Amino acid sequence: MSKVYSLPSRLKEDLKLVEDELTRIVSLKEGKLAEAALTTLKAGGKRLRPILVLLTGMINIYDVSKLIPSAVAIELVHTASLIHDDVLDGADTRRGSPTINATWDEKVAISTGDYLFGVAFEILSKLNNPYLMKVMAEAALALSVGELHQMRTCRNFNQTIDDYLTKIRNKTALLFSAACSMGAVLSGAKETEIEAVGRYGENLGMAFQIYDDVLDISGDKRILGKPIGIDLKDGMVTMPIFLALQETSQRAYLQNVVENVNSTEEEIEKAIRIIKATSAIKETKNRAKGFVEKAFEALKLIDADEARRELRFIGEFVINRYH
Ligand code: FPP
Ligand code: MG
Repeated sequence: MSKVYSLPSRLKEDLKLVEDELTRIVSLKEGKLAEAALTTLKAGGKRLRPILVLLTGMINIYDVSKLIPSAVAIELVHTASLIHDDVLDGADTRRGSPTINATWDEKVAISTGDYLFGVAFEILSKLNNPYLMKVMAEAALALSVGELHQMRTCRNFNQTIDDYLTKIRNKTALLFSAACSMGAVLSGAKETEIEAVGRYGENLGMAFQIYDDVLDISGDKRILGKPIGIDLKDGMVTMPIFLALQETSQRAYLQNVVENVNSTEEEIEKAIRIIKATSAIKETKNRAKGFVEKAFEALKLIDADEARRELRFIGEFVINRYH
């Protein structure tokens, strides 16, 4: 499979409707807030979560009138969390474009994120489905728990790989899982399928975040459109570091780079060389692949051929993007 995932044409049209609706919603507000929100949405993104809502919506009866608002709502929650994350990280750019906090200020960014977050729940509430509200509320709560966990473990070298896995489950995987459960529920899927697709989404999300973390160490700056080693610089201990520690004799060096707020570019580059000299990158990719395998295992419980096939393609896309 290619590195580009191509949606079935019917879904492409619906994804375009999601895109139009996102633009329409954020344009309703006037002034800085609308401009800021629009700039963020237009900076792009793969729209993976809306795609997952639409694809899982194919499991039984595809109801576009409910799938589109749900896909819009989940993308708004995701976007709101990224806007807030950029404030917390003091990030100047995202996806190569200036962040709201950089272009305007933190107040505008926080208010814009709050606004998008509120609109998402307003849209969802109009579908009058308590299950959807519950899934989204739990996923939003998990995002916050994940972010708090990240803050707590930042520059802390005494955490375990399980700490890391819990953190990424909360900050990334559970929103993927929510996207899948929402689509399945809206299609009227069976209980076993809703549960299975939720597990698919969670494992896919785990793999997605682990690959993202590998790229921060082994990626190509030109292809990524952002510098390498940002996580190390920010004091984040990710899976490649945990695995490198099992092999390297340079533990003290890595610990110093993670714990030191003022690590230089040269020190970060050396830390990356130390990690790359071990089998950590290869082993981390294998572990991510293991999560995709688990996601595929869950798909076996889905009775709908087309949905199962497309969801599998997404899993392959996640693997192939990085190999
Ligand atoms: C990006 O990850 C950030 C997240 C996945 C979650 C951020 C969550 C919050 C700020 C809390 C909740 C907010 C709301 C509105 C519910 P990253 O920092 O690993 O990746 P990056 O390199 O893209 O920043
Ligand atoms: Mg961040």
